[in-house]
Formats: sequence, structure tokens, C-alpha cells
Amino acid sequence: MHPEILVALLLSAAATVNAHYTFPRLIINGQSAEVKDWSATRMTKNANSKQGVENPASADIRCYSSQNAANIVTVPAGATIHYLSTQQINHPGPTQYYLAKVPEGRSAASWDGSGTVWFKIFTTMPSVDSNKQMTWPGQNEYKTTNTTIPAATPSGEYLLRVEQIALHLASKANGAQFYLSCSQIKITGGGNGTPGPLVSLPGAYKSTDPGILVNLGAIKPEEYKAPGPGIWSG
Ligand SMILES: *[C@@H]1O[C@H](CO)[C@@H](O)[C@H](O)[C@H]1NC(C)=O
Repeated sequence: MHPEILVALLLSAAATVNAHYTFPRLIINGQSAEVKDWSATRMTKNANSKQGVENPASADIRCYSSQNAANIVTVPAGATIHYLSTQQINHPGPTQYYLAKVPEGRSAASWDGSGTVWFKIFTTMPSVDSNKQMTWPGQNEYKTTNTTIPAATPSGEYLLRVEQIALHLASKANGAQFYLSCSQIKITGGGNGTPGPLVSLPGAYKSTDPGILVNLGAIKPEEYKAPGPGIWSG
């Protein structure tokens, strides 16, 4: 093989490896909530490798964390939030946000998020662009899609979980890749809602769910069914 061609192939292989991402920093109403990456967001096991979780039944599907974070950040109910991404979110798939209320007497700085405690507040659906390509909200950006903390969410400490499910290889079992992180937050000025349905993580997802084992080329955008419970919008 001609040396230049080999170099080009090696470079494109490296680019493929780098086409993964982490979400190390929460942004609240346009302001960085964290003085540096991973200060209220729990560092994930893939902080260096950037590899996604491939088994949605594994313990890593909850927060993928390697350690707790030092801080708890305040988030007003009704705030708009998103996360910065370390790389371009180039893979197709939904972005979802979940919350879990920290039990009485526990702290968001140490609680592990176990039990039937998680509710979903947001998901995205694909659409077809002018080139007849299926595209997803937030695809190819360096941040996750915005969502709003429902104003009716009761005040208190929570774990906030963001997830982007990369579906480019999802037509084979355990081919979907889950990119996610959890932040330690305190919701203030909240309401009197009763969030639900509540699910556990792991538990809410199976590798055969139609939104996880899916050939995007074989479905219409509106046929996509995101995994997990229905949305609680307050
Ligand atoms: C997302 O939220 C930020 C503020 O946090 C805002 O500046 C931006 O316009 C929002 N983006 C969209 C697409 O609504």
C-alpha cells in the first residue's frame, strides 16, 4: 500500500475512535453550573476512553460513575439545562433526561440512585431533513439538547441523569451505545407535583427494547419508540 494511503486510513481510524463523548459539565440557564468539569457531575468510567455503555442491563447504565462529585449545584425549578459534550455528538439517537429524588436523610453527594426512583422528564424524536436524512435534535452539536426542569418538581436534592443513545450500530444486539452522566443537584422553588412513573436503573431497559435494538434505516421517524418510561412533564 502507498504510504500516504496508509496514513490516511490510520487517521480515519483514529477519528472513528474519537467519535465518542462524555458530558462532564452541566449548564443552567446558560451559565456553567460547575467551576470545572466533573465538579457536580460524577466522573464517568469512560472519562478517558469515551466508550459508551453497550449492555443496557448492566449497573453502569445508571450513572456509569467512577466516583461521586465534590459539589451539589442549585437548579431552580423551571430552569433550562443542558450539558457540554467533550466531542461532537455525531451519532444518531435520542437524548433523554431523568431525575431521582434523594431519600430523606441522604445526600445527593453520596446517594447511589438505587431503587425504583427514576422518572423521565424529556426525550427527543427524529425527523427527516431536506436531504431526506433522518436527523435528531442536537445531533452534531457539542452540547446536549436543552430541557426544562418541570416547575412542578418538588424542591429537594436529586440526581439528574442525561443520556444520549447512539444507534448507528443498533441493528445488532448490544450494538447501541449509551453516553450518559449524573449530576448532584438541589432543586429550589419547586412545586407540588407527584413525579412518575418511577423505574429502576438498571431495570428500565432491555437489550431487545425496540428503541435499543433497532435498524434506523428500516423505520419511519415517527415509529421510533424511545426506551424507558413515559415522560413526566409536571
Ligand atoms: C438552550 O438554552 C440556552 C440557555 O441555557 C439558550 O441560550 C439557547 O438558546 C437554548 N437553545 C435552544 C435551541 O433553545
